[in-house]
Amino acid sequence: MTQIKPFEKPIYISRPPLPDRTAVYRKIDEIWDSQWLTNVGAQHLQFEKKLKAYLDASNISLFCNGTLALQLACQALRLSGEVITTPFTFAATPHVLYWNRIAPVFCDIDPETYNLDPNLIENMITPNTTAILPVHVFGYPCDTQGIREIADRYGLRVIYDAAHAFGVEVSGEKIGNFGDLSMFSFHATKIYHTLEGGALTFKDESLRERLEFAKNFGFKNEENIVVPGINAKMNEFQAAIGLLMLDLVGEEIEKRKHLTMVYRDRLNEIPGIYFRTERPKVKHNYYNFIITVDENKFGISRDELYNALKQYNIYTRRYFYPLCSQFQCYRNYPSSAAENLPVAEKISKSILTLPLYGSLEEEDIHKISDVIALHAKRNTYAFNLRSTCVSHQDRM
Ligand SMILES: Cc1ncc(COP(=O)(O)O)c(C=O)c1O
Repeated sequence: MTQIKPFEKPIYISRPPLPDRTAVYRKIDEIWDSQWLTNVGAQHLQFEKKLKAYLDASNISLFCNGTLALQLACQALRLSGEVITTPFTFAATPHVLYWNRIAPVFCDIDPETYNLDPNLIENMITPNTTAILPVHVFGYPCDTQGIREIADRYGLRVIYDAAHAFGVEVSGEKIGNFGDLSMFSFHATKIYHTLEGGALTFKDESLRERLEFAKNFGFKNEENIVVPGINAKMNEFQAAIGLLMLDLVGEEIEKRKHLTMVYRDRLNEIPGIYFRTERPKVKHNYYNFIITVDENKFGISRDELYNALKQYNIYTRRYFYPLCSQFQCYRNYPSSAAENLPVAEKISKSILTLPLYGSLEEEDIHKISDVIALHAKRNTYAFNLRSTCVSHQDRM
């Protein structure tokens, strides 16, 4: 039986790209010299301007994280009642609705993109629906045109969770320019980050004032509190990291693109392992690498593969499993019924996120692919595996 040595150190799904230390020290000096740590200092102003240009946004507002940004976006758009969203997302998406006393209504997803299926949205609309909240899952853009047509027909707002989609473009248009508003997360696990952080991009200039008040306790000026706001401001250190990271994100995307091609090349021939490829007219950000496992064709289940990879010190994640509609707080909603969400249920049970980050070596991708191949039905894959394993052992 072929042997593959486990990785000496654990390989996780992501590792944050980091700016050069000396550049960070220089930024700290600037902040210390200014003695201005938060509440729209020099770093914040500079970052806001640069990010607005990078995202080609008409308007932008910065936040301490993406969750509060999305939560306040719902308020700024005056959403209420019900909002249609996807169950195949991170917990924050439905949670922001819940915190706004809005009922999430879960709609099934497209089997190709894993994003909200526009053909199914219409059935979920009721007199209480005020908006659609789609997610560009793992950076793959939603069918923005299909969603806009439905929203226009029913007079609904569209608010995109673009947490994963920094750097993505569709037909030359930056991803934050679709719908009424888009939210980006700059959490450390994202392809572009500010340690923690977030931003909203939006077309309607009048939203800006509402958002600025809402994220700073509702202060309009020293004497006037105009809304019961919260503290969701981005601080100077986050903004400074954001400025430095803007110079690095292009290179990070290119590195991940290269490694993605290696994965695709290696996993392409394995029966029962599937992955998404390029979408037409889309500039992708290669945020992460996702596979689905067809147990019957591959030989073992997704969970067995997930556990098997751990034996080699490879830590994958089952994103997104379970579905948000299965969380205790949402599972009794009528739209959470499994019969309403057959595609999301199926994908959630077969999905696996593999390690992908710019500092991962091409060699590591080969080894992870070898381990996956080793667990495939051996008779169909024996030759490929033997050839790669021998060369790996030679290098060990
Ligand atoms: C799809 C999605 N929405 C929202 C968030 C929340 O963003 P943040 O962590 O910046 O609050 C995340 C992840 O962190 C996410 O993956």
